[in-house]
Amino acid sequence: MSQFPGPLAVQGFHLIGGTKNEGGSQFNSTSPADSRVTVGKFPKATASEANAAVAAARAAYPAWRRQSRVVRAELFDNLAQIIKRETDNLAKLMAWECGKIFNECRAEVIEGLHMVQYVFGSGRMPNGDVIASEIPEKDAFMRRKPWGVAAVITPWNFPFAVPLWMLGPSLLEGNTAVFKPSEDTPAIGQRLVELFLEAGFPNGVINLVHGDGVAGEALVRNKEVNIVLFTGSYEVGHKIQQISADFYDRMVASEMGSKSAVIVCEDARLDLAVTCAVLAGFKTSGQRCVSAGRMLVHEKIFDAFAEKYVGAVKRLNIGHPLDSTNFTGPVINEGAVNKTLSYNDLAKQEKATVLLDGGRMTAGDQEHGCFLSPFVYRQEHVPGKRTVREEVFGPHVALVPFKDDADAVRIYNDVEYGLSMAVITENFRKMRYFREECEFGMGYVNLPCIGAEVHLPFGGVKKSGNGHPSASALTEAVTHKIAWTVNHAEEVKMAQGLKAEVG
Ligand code: UN1
Repeated sequence: MSQFPGPLAVQGFHLIGGTKNEGGSQFNSTSPADSRVTVGKFPKATASEANAAVAAARAAYPAWRRQSRVVRAELFDNLAQIIKRETDNLAKLMAWECGKIFNECRAEVIEGLHMVQYVFGSGRMPNGDVIASEIPEKDAFMRRKPWGVAAVITPWNFPFAVPLWMLGPSLLEGNTAVFKPSEDTPAIGQRLVELFLEAGFPNGVINLVHGDGVAGEALVRNKEVNIVLFTGSYEVGHKIQQISADFYDRMVASEMGSKSAVIVCEDARLDLAVTCAVLAGFKTSGQRCVSAGRMLVHEKIFDAFAEKYVGAVKRLNIGHPLDSTNFTGPVINEGAVNKTLSYNDLAKQEKATVLLDGGRMTAGDQEHGCFLSPFVYRQEHVPGKRTVREEVFGPHVALVPFKDDADAVRIYNDVEYGLSMAVITENFRKMRYFREECEFGMGYVNLPCIGAEVHLPFGGVKKSGNGHPSASALTEAVTHKIAWTVNHAEEVKMAQGLKAEVG
């Protein structure tokens, strides 16, 4: 058995209107680090259970939206204190269940905490505008109203922070929610819901259903759901958008795939560039939605960069998530192993120059987990090469040479995605050029293209997102704005010179 003691086997439940329900067909959550470790056993929701959760959220909505925004926000202060108390336990459970290194899991819990703190602080901040009217006696305002019920469908790679990016702003603004965590990380999702209950959120304000696409699709097809907040693959996000197009008051915020890139300019500091490109390519085993599958490198420094990069990647420790000397852990499941290996093969078929061959790692206890070593190759950005265009979501990185800045922009934009990019340069004119010409939602200079913070918008364009970023910027998607105009005169005066006399 592994030298690391496993977590207690969690018994899963759906939470519908404050009632826990453990019944129905069950599925196991197994650790990607060690298939002998069962993290927990969870019920798989049917469509009718998902619909019951929506009904419970709808029933809780009127009282919740009428509650003071400040009182709602103060519950998030309770939640923040509980998350601080539980930080290490949460990180450990996450390390077992999603395979990220403990330090990364801890950083993710802290990122979730930051969202909760942001939401608590926002409770007493202005959330509307005072706007002038043409008529001096009129006072005009922009105020926000919640939409109603939010379905929150989240991925396994950020199983704590991403749900909070969505649940935080949604509940603060007076919406209620049904949360469906990924079937790969149900235990950490359920633990988060338990913390909401402990913090005192009323029954029905947050509901939980476990399961796969059956539950997810039932939520999306339910007309009582006003908002769908989704992070995951383009295929699922696109289907959500298609189904939702039939609903007249349906808001969808979706954050989907990427083929992010780090652009290494001719004047880049080489060591800085290598650090950025290692973090962007291989942190979280390349399984962040913002991970860079492409390093675009100026042809004049290509060989020098490639040599240092491959040297640094070779030195990365890959192993058990609870061993703090490791840089990354396993990928999430056998499907991810097979997908990454098939892209490694495809790169070879596409005549890439392989600089570091990657494959399954099986030494010692690794044979029981989904461990992959990094794959690095040189490939030209020419038509017909799929590996430099398609998202892999594993430790698989292409180094792509470019000739000049315009060529780098052309290559960067010539993919269907637009999530995240970084440019490594000392030249302030180049920074601005790339900012203005590249298509992305998060841009970085002299940094990796990972590492967002909650008070910044998080989302992308093209196949990466529909322009409703999550985290703090989600307020725009989970509320609708109303104009509210009050006349203080004793007679009616109309704007635009419209006559007000009647009769
Ligand atoms: C994601 O990969 O889905 O920017 C979220 C980052 C993190 C969040 C990533 N703060 O890398």
